[in-house]
Amino acid sequence: MEQQEIKEMVGKAAVEALVRSGMKLGLGTGSTAIHAVRHVGALIQQGKLKDILAVPTSFQSTIECEKWGIPLYNLNSREIGGRLDLTIDGADEVDPDNYCVKGGGGALLLEKIVAYASAAYCVVVDESKLVNNLALTFPLPVEVINEARVPVMKALESLGTETVLREAVRKAGPVITDHGNFIIDIRFRGPVDPRTLEGEINQLPGVVENGFFTRLRPEVFIGRADGKLEVRR
Ligand code: 5RP
Repeated sequence: MEQQEIKEMVGKAAVEALVRSGMKLGLGTGSTAIHAVRHVGALIQQGKLKDILAVPTSFQSTIECEKWGIPLYNLNSREIGGRLDLTIDGADEVDPDNYCVKGGGGALLLEKIVAYASAAYCVVVDESKLVNNLALTFPLPVEVINEARVPVMKALESLGTETVLREAVRKAGPVITDHGNFIIDIRFRGPVDPRTLEGEINQLPGVVENGFFTRLRPEVFIGRADGKLEVRR
């Protein structure tokens, strides 16, 4: 199977397995999660899903929900009351404990807020995302306010990382996130403990959020190249 077909298969499979009418649903970002969003939209249009209240995690997922007529809310909406039944999202890396690196699409801040407000969390990936150690190959995104860019980069380098300010494509200069911040991508030189670092990196003044997701144990839907689906709990 082509990678795009695997992404579609796994996104749809998660919706079929987990989404029920009446749910308050977090909807993720990226080229895999978008298939889950589209499938929710299609099922609503077919009348097979009713009374879904969706909270998107980015401009990308907001626009996709609008296209499909998926009813949109945010965590502060009275109908949502700050808690969701389920969130489905993608990931850049998943380790054997189901800890993740996220934020390849720059949406880590709202993705984490939405995930951590969810009773159940599902991650949809193709098998290329499985790793033994996080943030050695795919870099860990750290969202930072502009004024703190240089001190935060220096502090991250002193933790033994290589740092790169993420550059925009088809815009001169850095990526600006959905929340108006910059992203520093960092790579560790050897295995690290993501549970400790998730908290430690956020202690640096000016860091808004980082892409380690270790406080949840998601159900991971893995699409294999041979077309098989594995669910890892
Ligand atoms: C966006 C994300 C995405 O979920 C992550 O980058 C995976 O995206 P894709 O499914 O396109 O590989 O964290 O911030």
